[in-house]
Amino acid sequence: VIENQVQTLLSQMSLEEKVGQMTQIDFSLVSVANGQDVENPIDIDKLEHAILNRHVGSILNTPTTPNNKAQPIAKWRNMTQAIRDLTAKTRLKIPVIYGIDAIHGATYTQNAVLFPQAISMAATFNTDLSFREGEITAREVKASGLDWNFSPVMDIGRQPLWPRLWETFGEDVHLVSAMGSAFIRGHQGDDVAAANKAATCMKHYVGYSYPLNGKDRSPAWIGERALREYFLPSFEAGVLAGSPTVMINSAEVDGIPGHANYHYLTEILRGELGFKGFTVSDWEDIIRLHTRDKIAASPRDAVKVAVMAGVDMSMVPLDYSFYDLLLDLVKTGDVPMSRIDEAVSRILKVKVQAGLFELKQPALPVEGNFATEDAVAINRQAAEEAIVLAKNANHILPLSKHASILVTGPSANLLSVMNGGWTITWQGSAEELYPQDKLTLLKAIQQKTSGQVTYVGGQRFSDEINIEQAVTQARNHDVVVLALGENTYTETTGNIDSLELDPVQLQLARAIFAIGKPVILVTFGGRPRIITELAEQAQAVVLGFLPGMEGGVAMADILFGDVNPSGKLPITYPRATNDITPYDHKPMEAFELNQYRPLYAFGHGLSYTTFETSDLKIQQNRISLGESIELSVKVKNTGSIAGKETVLVYLNDEVASVTRPVKQLKAFKKIELEPGQQETLQFTLTAQDMSFIGLDMKRIVEPGEFKVMVGDETAQFTVLKN
Ligand code: IFM
Repeated sequence: VIENQVQTLLSQMSLEEKVGQMTQIDFSLVSVANGQDVENPIDIDKLEHAILNRHVGSILNTPTTPNNKAQPIAKWRNMTQAIRDLTAKTRLKIPVIYGIDAIHGATYTQNAVLFPQAISMAATFNTDLSFREGEITAREVKASGLDWNFSPVMDIGRQPLWPRLWETFGEDVHLVSAMGSAFIRGHQGDDVAAANKAATCMKHYVGYSYPLNGKDRSPAWIGERALREYFLPSFEAGVLAGSPTVMINSAEVDGIPGHANYHYLTEILRGELGFKGFTVSDWEDIIRLHTRDKIAASPRDAVKVAVMAGVDMSMVPLDYSFYDLLLDLVKTGDVPMSRIDEAVSRILKVKVQAGLFELKQPALPVEGNFATEDAVAINRQAAEEAIVLAKNANHILPLSKHASILVTGPSANLLSVMNGGWTITWQGSAEELYPQDKLTLLKAIQQKTSGQVTYVGGQRFSDEINIEQAVTQARNHDVVVLALGENTYTETTGNIDSLELDPVQLQLARAIFAIGKPVILVTFGGRPRIITELAEQAQAVVLGFLPGMEGGVAMADILFGDVNPSGKLPITYPRATNDITPYDHKPMEAFELNQYRPLYAFGHGLSYTTFETSDLKIQQNRISLGESIELSVKVKNTGSIAGKETVLVYLNDEVASVTRPVKQLKAFKKIELEPGQQETLQFTLTAQDMSFIGLDMKRIVEPGEFKVMVGDETAQFTVLKN
């Protein structure tokens, strides 16, 4: 039925209408002069030009206002309704698909639920939470009249310097695939056209996250085996989960820019992964094939190269050059009509599937669908489960609620540092634009305790900290909560040369440590900044990453023991800037000199209780090629309070024709156990889990010995030659 509807439309469309469908413009092209804060910022003349003359298929982004504040939901509804109303007057009534970066909630609207960012969601190791985040975000995207979310990031985060590391679900391919596909399933449900569901967009296909120099939009050198082993599987999982769109890598891999890579965009994505939706370029990346990459001799050539490689929609987005150039390329026969029809039918199909042809105001009432109690509760749970207790010497945590505490450090009293970039605006938001009823770490601590809490402010991110005053106050208190970290950023703005903490923060920390009071080191930020020296001296280390709007409360709950921490590291926490060996490293990295000596390993995370893993049993110790194995393991809460534990199952192929990682995560489960309670968990490892990319670049399972590792338990099985 969908196919028929699409083909009928296609047969009625003019070339101009088709090329328009492939064109996505920025909201500023249809809005009143930037900076005006009016109820409906649409400039109807500009909108008429976009839709009636240029037939644009898509719009993205938020209106710009003088103070960059988030817009009320009513305003979003007005704007998007104006677009629908005008579309309804066109000949074929083809809807515009409106896209937005709601990467940790519908952050562009007022009062949205701001979830932990992806790196923190990954630290929960809780796929149900990712699913629920998807559900809630879709509901809020839809309630504000929008159609399409540029999320989730399915890139794998194996380069800690990269300023978008925090937008990923971490360094492990299994974890990224599991968390990302759960988000997609929650966001789209069984029927993406439902009133509370919206389309997702997997990004940034493929290899964007692995720049050799650590800088955003820089070349990656990824051999075919690594591409297939580490970078493609998460996108494949996203295709299986039903994500209908893909955004393209802004940079290049092995000398080919993402937007020019026919092999990746067409042969692999469609031919091998079976993707049937449409691809969208990233911001202005087609023209960069000419202006930056010099693989196209002119802007016209750039459009031709990109479209022929497999780019279906161009995020132009600040003019109509793509539209004009592509029109000309088709008229002169330089781009065949068949390629246009192919791209347009993919776009139309997604629009039909997403129910956009109904051109209706969203059916969802705002009341009961936006910032609801259940959404806030899920967000709170996610923040609680995302925080990683990395060190707790002498059980200094949880703190007594009667202790006198000095709170200091630049991230102690800011909501922005817990939310990061893509919050209200691209680079994150000015502090005063956050809902003022939300609690920073300082305010949450003040609310919790009856002990004396002193704050020595001054924030490195805006002005200098008064170190002398902090030291004086530290002497007068039982314990110091020292909150360090990073200010907000994303993309190239966040490029750094070293993971070292900035000098002012180090200076403050050293001065505090020098007086010998117990210090609880808390960090917020998107990357693992080097804290090796500080972590040695601190009594406790609690890694917050970007826990979102409930992060302050969640962190305070953990510090005082109202919540038992359960977050685990989704990345290896390096000891030094150049120490970037991931956990699933090769045997040679652990030979002679063990090179995997991180400060904290992937999967590390303490609890206020203790868990014991025992009795790892594999049901069949010898299997034939292609068969699965079933295994079970017992987990017991051996401490005195209830707690949540994630059980991680790793696999190693002991001898293979290409070098294999010393271990790879293949399955995980998170459970909650009362003190003394024991549970037996079952897992299945499939042939896919035992496979790897062989000498001929094809996925194979080789017969031989395999080792399963769960906690301190190991077990062996053999795959027999058939
Ligand atoms: O979705 C983003 C992408 O991640 C980076 N460039 C801009 C896009 C749209 O805002």
